Amino acid sequence: MSPPRVPTLPAPASRVTDCRLIDLPRVTDSRGNLTFIEAEHHAPFPIQRVYYLYDVPGGEVRGGHAHKELQQFIIAASGSFDVVLDDGRERQRYHLNRSYFGLYMPRLIWRELDNFSSGSVCLVLASAHYNEADYIRSYPEYCRIVDSLPRPA
Ligand code: TYD
Repeated sequence: MSPPRVPTLPAPASRVTDCRLIDLPRVTDSRGNLTFIEAEHHAPFPIQRVYYLYDVPGGEVRGGHAHKELQQFIIAASGSFDVVLDDGRERQRYHLNRSYFGLYMPRLIWRELDNFSSGSVCLVLASAHYNEADYIRSYPEYCRIVDSLPRPA
């Protein structure tokens, strides 16, 4: 089956300040704690896909791309790592080290993940199935695209 088509980019561009840390519910228990995520409640979109990064060697960098339409929600399920967000004008680095915080990213945000601790697990909830056509993998191309879109005030 062919991958779903990615719709043409509607206005506006996203900003780093549209990304936010979301505090997830914590059911603390002497037997071990529990956190849950409900689509459209804690993650602000219907979840269509879950993937995770693990066994990341020290010093490696993942990401290095943006998505035309995909929204994502990133959790440090184990250990810690940094997420560097970039909207073509501003950059912000988040250090994720608690499994009860999720970092929400709208579409059109350039992201890189680095500083992975040993044994860390980066859990990602995504708003759509995998589709290579949704990726922007060149930073100059990303800047051209976002510069061509209106910026919210
Ligand atoms: P990618 O998203 O490009 O990760 P990174 O930017 O950190 O390198 O994914 C790496 C590879 O994994 C890519 O070739 C596509 C594949 N992949 C899937 O098949 N399904 C998925 O859900 C994801 C996220 C990646």
